[in-house]
Amino acid sequence: MSNPTTNPLRVGLRQERVIAPQCLIIFGASGDLTQRKLVPALFELYKQRRLPSEFALLGCARRPWSDEEFRNRMANALKKEIANHSLEWAQFSSGLFYESIDLQRSEDLLKLGTRLEEIDRIRATHGNRTFYFSVSPKFYGSGCRALASAGLLNDPKRSRIVIEKPFGRDYGSAQALNQLVQSCGKESQIYRIDHYLGKETVQNILVLRFANAIFEPIWNRNYISSIQITAAETVGVEDRAGYYESAGALRDMVQNHLTQMLAITAMEPPGHFDPEAIRNEKAKVLQVARLADEAEPWNCCVRGQYGKGGSLKDPILAYKDEPGVDANSTTETYVALKLFIDNWRWQGVPFYMRTGKRLAKRLSEVVLTFREAPVHLFDSAGGSPTANQLILRIQPNEGAEFHFEVKSPGSGMRSRPVEMDFSYDESFGEPSDEGYVRLLADAMLGDPTLFTRGDEVEAAWRLYTPILELLENNPWQLPIHKYESRTWGPAESDALLAKDRLLWRRP
Ligand code: BG6
Repeated sequence: MSNPTTNPLRVGLRQERVIAPQCLIIFGASGDLTQRKLVPALFELYKQRRLPSEFALLGCARRPWSDEEFRNRMANALKKEIANHSLEWAQFSSGLFYESIDLQRSEDLLKLGTRLEEIDRIRATHGNRTFYFSVSPKFYGSGCRALASAGLLNDPKRSRIVIEKPFGRDYGSAQALNQLVQSCGKESQIYRIDHYLGKETVQNILVLRFANAIFEPIWNRNYISSIQITAAETVGVEDRAGYYESAGALRDMVQNHLTQMLAITAMEPPGHFDPEAIRNEKAKVLQVARLADEAEPWNCCVRGQYGKGGSLKDPILAYKDEPGVDANSTTETYVALKLFIDNWRWQGVPFYMRTGKRLAKRLSEVVLTFREAPVHLFDSAGGSPTANQLILRIQPNEGAEFHFEVKSPGSGMRSRPVEMDFSYDESFGEPSDEGYVRLLADAMLGDPTLFTRGDEVEAAWRLYTPILELLENNPWQLPIHKYESRTWGPAESDALLAKDRLLWRRP
C-alpha cells in the first residue's frame, strides 16, 4: 500500500469524506480477520489521514489479553507494513485497546459499557460507536441482543453494527436473523458486509454503466446474448476447513459475492445516487432472478470438488486430504450455475456464474457477450467473426477491455479480433485499496450504499433455495464431480455451456 504523502496523484484524485470521532469495537479481535484485514485496513486509513485524531479501536474477545499484548500482536501481524512506517504505527497503535469480553455474560456487558465510557473520555470519541461482529455467525443474533439489552444501540445516529457474512444459512435462517437483528436496532444501523462491494472494480460497474451514455442503450436483451460471472481462486480451503465444510462454495461465494456482482451488472439505473435508491434497484433485480430450471436444478447447476494436482515437486492435496476435512466430504469447492432474470431488460438472456478453489488462475470478471453481426460480410482470421465482448476485470489487473473486429492489414477484406484496454494501474498509477479500507470507512461514515440490505440478503438466499432444498433432501441428484487442482473445474461445467453452444472464457 503506498503512502499518500509520497504519492501526489493519490492526494490529487481522491475526494474523501470526513469520519466523525469514533470508537470501533471488534468482537472476535483475536481471530484471523482482525489481523489479516481489519487492522491493516484501519492502519491504511490512518496513513491516508482519513481517521480522525479522536479515534479508538477496542478489540474484544475472550482471551485475557492486555492493551499492550493486543498492540504487540497486531504489530507482529503487520510487521512488514510497519517496517517503513514505524512512527505512524506508534501514533496509530496508541489508540488500540483490548477488553476480555464474553457478550453472553451480563457482568461483561457492564464492563464493556464502562470501558467505552472511559475511551470516550480519554480519546474524545463522543459516544460514536461502530460494533463489528467478526465472530462465529451463530453469535450474530445473541450478540446484537446483548448490545441492545445493555442500551448500547439506543442512539441510531451514534451506534452501528457491522455483520460479516454468512448472514444466515438459507432463506429461512436469514429471515429469522433479520427479524432478530432488526428488533435490536433500526435497519439503518445494520451494515451487512460483503467485501466484494468494497472492490473499486465492482463499484466501477456502476460508474461505467451510469456515467456513460453509450452503454445503457445496448445493456439489454436486444444486444447482449449472454453474461458470464466468474470468481476463480488458486488457493484451496487453507486453514478454514471447520467453517468451509459446512458452507461450501455456494454459501461461501455464490450467495453473496457472485450474486452482488450479478445484481450490480443487471440492476436498473437508480433515480439518484443515494443508498436506498441503489439498494432498491439491486433488491428488485434479485427478486426477479431465478435458476434456469428451478424444478430440476441438476439441469442448471454443477458442483465440483478439487482432487489432487500440481507436480511431483509441488504437489497439491485433494480437498478430502486437507487437514480438518472429512475424508468422505461432499462439500463443493466449485459451483457453476445458469440463471435467468425475468424482466423486460433481461428476459431470455442466460447468466452463467462459476466459482471454485484450486482453479487454474486467480481471476474475477464479468463478461458481457453481444449478439453477433446479423450478416457476415467478411471472413475472419479466426474462422467466423467473434461476437463483441465487454470484459470487466474485477481482479487481478483491474480494468476493462472491449473485444471487437477490425480489418486485417493487407489487400483482402478479412477481419480479425482486437482489444481495447483500460487498466486501473496504468491510468491511475496506483493499486486500488483493499475492499475493507473502503467498507470500514463507509461504515464509520454511516454510508450504507455498499452494504447489503435485509431484503437483498433474503432475495439472494431465495434464489438458491431449490438447490439448497435438493441438497438437504436428495443430495444424490446433485452429485459432486471431481476436478484436478489447477484446472478450470469439472468437465460437466463445460457441458453446461456446451448445451447452449457456448464456452467459458479462459483468459
Ligand atoms: C471470502 C471467502 O468471502 O472471499 C473465501 O470466504 C474466499 O473463501 C474470499 O477465498 C475471496 O476473496 P477475494 O477478495 O480474494 O476474491
